Order: sequence, then C-alpha cells, then structure tokens
Amino acid sequence: MTTARTIEIEERHAVPFFKKIPVSIERGEGVYVWDQEGKKYLDFTAGWGVTCLGHAHPAIISALEEQGRKIIQNPNSGLTYSPIRARLLDLMADILPPNLTRIFFSNSGAEANDAAIKLARKVTGRLDVISTEQSFHGRTISTASATGQAKHREKFNPLMPNYRFVTFGDIDGLKANLDNSVAAVILEPIQGEGGVQVPAEHYLEEVGSLCKENGSLLIVDEVQTGFGRCGTMFAVSPMKVEVDFLTMAKGIAGGFPFGAFAMTEAVSEKIEIGDHGGTYCGNPLGCAVAYNVISFLLKHDIAANVREMGELALHHMNDWKSSYPEIINDVRGKGLLMALEFKSEEAATVVSDKCLERGMFVRQTQGNMIRLFPALNIKKEEMEEGLAILLRSVRDLLGS
Ligand SMILES: Cc1ncc(COP(=O)(O)O)c(C=O)c1O
Repeated sequence: MTTARTIEIEERHAVPFFKKIPVSIERGEGVYVWDQEGKKYLDFTAGWGVTCLGHAHPAIISALEEQGRKIIQNPNSGLTYSPIRARLLDLMADILPPNLTRIFFSNSGAEANDAAIKLARKVTGRLDVISTEQSFHGRTISTASATGQAKHREKFNPLMPNYRFVTFGDIDGLKANLDNSVAAVILEPIQGEGGVQVPAEHYLEEVGSLCKENGSLLIVDEVQTGFGRCGTMFAVSPMKVEVDFLTMAKGIAGGFPFGAFAMTEAVSEKIEIGDHGGTYCGNPLGCAVAYNVISFLLKHDIAANVREMGELALHHMNDWKSSYPEIINDVRGKGLLMALEFKSEEAATVVSDKCLERGMFVRQTQGNMIRLFPALNIKKEEMEEGLAILLRSVRDLLGS
C-alpha cells in the first residue's frame, strides 16, 4: 500500500479526533522509526511516554511470542489464576512503595484512574474529588471530570458532579478545600500533559499529610511518571508520602496496552467481590510483557541512564535558554520527562515542524511548549543527535 492510499483510507474511515501529522509509520527499532517511504526518524515522544525500552525491543517480542503460544486470555478471565500474573504481582509488590500491597491490572491509564476514583468513593463513603488545575487524568467521563483543562471538559458539560480544582503546588488552596465530604485528592507528581510542571520539593508529602488528617484518600497518578521516566522507579519512590492509590500505565508494558492500580491493605479490606473487574484485566499476554519490561528496567538499572541522559539534555537546553532568551521562556523536567517552553505557540510550531523535516518527532504541548520523552534506554549519541536537531530547529527561528 502506498503512503497516499494509507492516508486516504485513514482520512475516510477513522473518526477525526486527531490533527494528523502526514507521516505513515511502518516500523521501529530502538529510538528510531521508519515511514512507509523508508525515511528514518528519531522518536523523542516514545509513543507518548510509552515505549520505554524503544521500539521492537527483544524483551517485549519474546514475551509476546512465548506467552502468545501458551495462552492470551484465561478461561473465565480473572476468575482463574495465572502463573504469569502471579509473577508480575510479586514483582510489582517489590517495586511499589511498601504500603501498596494490593494491585489490579487495567487496560489503560484512564481506566486505572477511573477505578481508583470509583473505589475511593465507596471506601470512604464520601463523594467529592479534588483535582488540580492543568492536570490530565484521562478521557473517560469521570477522568475528564478530574482533568483540570477546559479543552478536555467544556464540550462535554455537564460532567460528573462533585469534582473541584485547586492550583497545582498550592498547599493553602488545598487546605481551604479539604473537608469531610472529600473522598479523594488526585494528582500527578509532575504534570505531564499540563506542560511538565514540577512542584516544590515537599509538595506531595504535604498533600499526603493533609489527606491523612482529613480522612481523604490520596490517588497519585503515575501513568506518565512511572517506571523510571523521572529517574526513579516511581516519582514518589524517594518521597516520604503515604499514597493510598497509585495508578500506572504507559511504560508498564513498553507499548502493549496495559495499566494498573495499587492500593493499601487498609483500602483493600473494604473492597468486596464484584466492586470492579474487566474482561481483559490482568490478561496473561499483557502480564508477560509487563513482567519482561519491568525486569529489564531493574536488571539494567535503566533509571540510572534516565538520570544521566536527563541531566545531559537539561544542561544543553538551559544553555540555549541563556543564549536565546528572546525565544525560550523556560526549560524544565525531571529525568526523561522534559519541556522546552517558548515565548509563543508559533515558535513551538515552527520548531516542531522543523524537527519533523529533519527526521525527528517531538510533542508540541499546551501550544507554546515542546515535550520531550524519549525511550528510557536512549544512548548518549542518540540523545546528542536529537539535541542537535532541536538546536538547529531553534536556530531556524532566529534565521541563523
Ligand atoms: C498523567 C496521565 N494520566 C492518565 C492518562 C490517560 O492514560 P491513557 O491514555 O492510557 O488512558 C495520561 C495520558 O496521557 C496521563 O498522562
């Protein structure tokens, strides 16, 4: 099939939810992908923070092949036991914060958040949910209700009742809103889609203490930040914060659609049979892929590479910010979740288009930002190749 034919069919039959990029991707390997014409691109989006080990990683392929030959979906789905699910549960219990001992597998991040919100209401017997402005928690009706961005909400009003928003990072604002009607506070440790917003150092710990005092549950959405993206297994791993629910997806299975949520023993004690479920939840194929991905992350200490490559990239980008203050507003990030904020949306669009012309995918975010979240095992020379393309594209703005 030609590229033109691919585009024609997609344009005719796919629901037009996306402003498309006119490139048709056929295959990938590591941090590179190739289009139907054979043109090579560097992927600094990792499929939106998903392909944490790069494309076509052998650990993923072998899990798909080996488990695919054994069994993909159990008889009676989650009602029967599965050795690969048990192995994954055991591994997850080792990497999660120690108080999060109960885990359930979902198919996506939105589904994990949706379930955490639903269960927090049941467990506390309260209705209200506090979220943060500029957050992103998914596109189902309840996660859109928890998402603090008008563009994801306003066309679908009225959304779910009993959701309120506070400013991300503002402890006093949260204090003023916490009362005995609040079932849960949901937030991302670093707002990803909101433009890689990194809060002050002890913000999450303070949120955790306030929730505890108030009898509200803390749902930490690590869908984007989890599995080494920010240089530790979870963004909360080095923090002293008591999380009640932690939600996950994206990097968990390196590209296979999979997610999870974990909860404390205390929360789990209040769960009853039938409170939640799902046909594909914890399917052996997804479990096998996630098991191999997480094992690889641990065995090869990929988080160390994330810290090193993230520092390298932020160092260079901070230099650009000093050199080009007339076009770059800010540079920020943690590990390999980074943003370059421009003075205008037009500037971010030009840079993003120029990167594509030069063979590199980046993700324009919130109009005037470019979000960079490449594979976590990216090599130094690949990072430098990407930074060189970005810098040349930034310089195009100056006509130099
Ligand atoms: C922080 C966060 N939560 C939830 C989601 C939704 O995840 P999914 O697209 O897998 O439903 C996303 C997706 O970008 C996300 O970044």
